[in-house]
Formats: sequence, structure tokens, C-alpha cells
Amino acid sequence: MEQLLRQIENYRNEIESIVPNGAEALEAYRIKFLGTKGIVKSLFTEIKNVPADKKKEFGLVLNEFKQLAEAKYESWKSQATESGPGDKSKPDLTLPADTAPLGSRHPISLMRNNIIAIFQRLGFSVAEGPEIEDDWHNFTALNLPEHHPARDMQDTFYIHQNPDWLLRTHTSNIQIREMEKGVLPLRIVCPGRVYRNETISARSHCFFHQIEGLYIDENVSFADLKQTLYYFVQEMYGTDVKIRFRPSYFPFTEPSAEMDINCQICNGAGCTVCKHTGWVEILGCGMVHPKVLSNCGIDPEKYTGFAFGMGIERPALLKYGINDIRLFSENDIRFLKQFTPAI
Ligand code: PHE
Repeated sequence: MEQLLRQIENYRNEIESIVPNGAEALEAYRIKFLGTKGIVKSLFTEIKNVPADKKKEFGLVLNEFKQLAEAKYESWKSQATESGPGDKSKPDLTLPADTAPLGSRHPISLMRNNIIAIFQRLGFSVAEGPEIEDDWHNFTALNLPEHHPARDMQDTFYIHQNPDWLLRTHTSNIQIREMEKGVLPLRIVCPGRVYRNETISARSHCFFHQIEGLYIDENVSFADLKQTLYYFVQEMYGTDVKIRFRPSYFPFTEPSAEMDINCQICNGAGCTVCKHTGWVEILGCGMVHPKVLSNCGIDPEKYTGFAFGMGIERPALLKYGINDIRLFSENDIRFLKQFTPAI
């Protein structure tokens, strides 16, 4: 009996000296003192060994001890809950919710949005059109009648069920559709996916993305074309960029040109990107052929216009230092998650 009372006294001292420190220690305390095999329970089993005349006294001491052990537990628990994050036994309702993982924009979308934003500042709006197109809108209206040799410039996927249908080879089909609406002046950029029957490699694919532009009004000149495109590359690559135009041929523009910028990688020193020429081709352009205008019901005597077209993949490869065009369409999450989160 004496020994039991001393033990209880020791436990009491132990409990009183405990400084509450977190949920884990609290749980350990509960198991040690209040658990089914804990100290309080085991002391109660000692009652039967206490002499009958001392039972009452021992019972009183033990009950007091039990209350102390429980009170300590309750006060510790409420403290742990108030202190919040440290307590794993209860959810902390004041914590901000876990954020859902953010996706990221595809590098082609980032580049397309960049390009569109620049032309929007010049008053261009965005127009879109179908990827499955008829021959008229993809070729014939663009001054590429059947058997025209320039059709071979773009290897076309035809649709078996209807030889008049094909996968568009450029987004110029949108320009025809917009011109046919007959609302002038017209100032649009036309982004979209296009298809050509080319062997897939690190540098080319059977589908890719383009943005074409079209401006039709009275008195639109080649000088307008040059200034618009010069503004575009300055916004895109910085005011130091240099441009040059080389004469070229497209059936739907006359005159036609290709525009180069000075190589942004080596700045003229010579590298593999510019094939040691110091220049990189970025787009094709020209004054809309009068025949294209009349094909769409626009009077070529009254109206003139310019058009341009560029791929999106190549500038995106350059901007992000990517060396294989196939990465854009493989949907590999390790590749995609490296780009700016979509907000
Ligand atoms: N449609 C041409 C192509 O896909 C690009 C282009 C558009 C060229 C407009 C000149 C004018 O290659």
C-alpha cells in the first residue's frame, strides 16, 4: 500500500511536469496513462491487493490521480487544436485548401498567342475556318486551278470518299472564306493546323501550324505590307532586328516575296540554324493576286490587299531551344510541363 501510494505520487509529479508539445506526444501520453493497458487502469487492478481497511483511502487517492491524468489530457488536447497545423489528430480548418495542379500552355499555343497579340495591336482580328476543306477554297480560288504545277508545292492529303475534299494545306482557305463574305475593308489573321504529306522527321511533320494574314482595302500597297511585317518582327524579336525581302513565287500573290530576319541565334557569325548565311526565312508574303480578288467577288480595280503566311513551329523551336519538331505532338507530359503554367 505504501509503495503504491509512492508510485502514484511519482506519476503525479511526472504528469505535472509535462510540457505539452504536439499531437504525437499527446497520443503517447494518452496510451501511457489512459490507455486500456495504461497506468490508471493497472492501478485500479491493484485495489484487490489493498487491505480492506485501506481500500477507501487508496480509492480516493487513485480517483484523484485519475482525474488529474484526464484533466491534463483534455487541456493538452485543446491546446494542440488551437495551435493548429502541428496537430494531425484534427483537420485545421483555417489552412488554405490544396491547390489543384495547374496545367501549362502548349508551346505552340504560346507562340500563336504571341503572334496574334502583336497583330491585334495593329487592328487585325482573328478568323478561323475548317481543316477539312474543298478544292475551291484551298486551291482553285487561290489561283491554283486543277493541274496547275504549283499544286505540287504542297503535297496534299485527299479524302477517299470525295475527291473534292482534302485536308487543308495552308490556312489561306480562311482568307477565301472571309473575302467571300464581302465585308470590306478586311484585316484578319488566320491561325490553324494544316496538313501536308511529308515524311515525319526531326525537322518536318505531316501536320503543323500556320498563321496567315490578310489586309484588303482601297490603296493598300507593298509599302504597307513591309511596314506591317517590320512592326511585327520588331515586336517579336526586338527593335534591333533586320529584315530582307527576297523575290519569290506564290500563285495567289503578285508580286510575291519571302522575308528573312537576321539570325537571332548567331547574329550573323554563322551557325547551323541560318546555315551560315546569317539570315533565317520566317514568312512568305505578297500583294493579293487580282484574280484571287475577283474569284471572291471583290473588284480588283477598286481594292488591293496584301497577304502573308508563316509557320508557328519554327519560331517556337528557336524561341524555346527545342531540336525536334515531333516533341510538339507527342503529348509527353515531361516536355509539356516545362512551359508557363496556364493561368
Ligand atoms: N499559303 C502560303 C503557304 O502556305 C503562305 C503565304 C500566304 C504566302 C500568303 C504568301 C501569302 O506556304
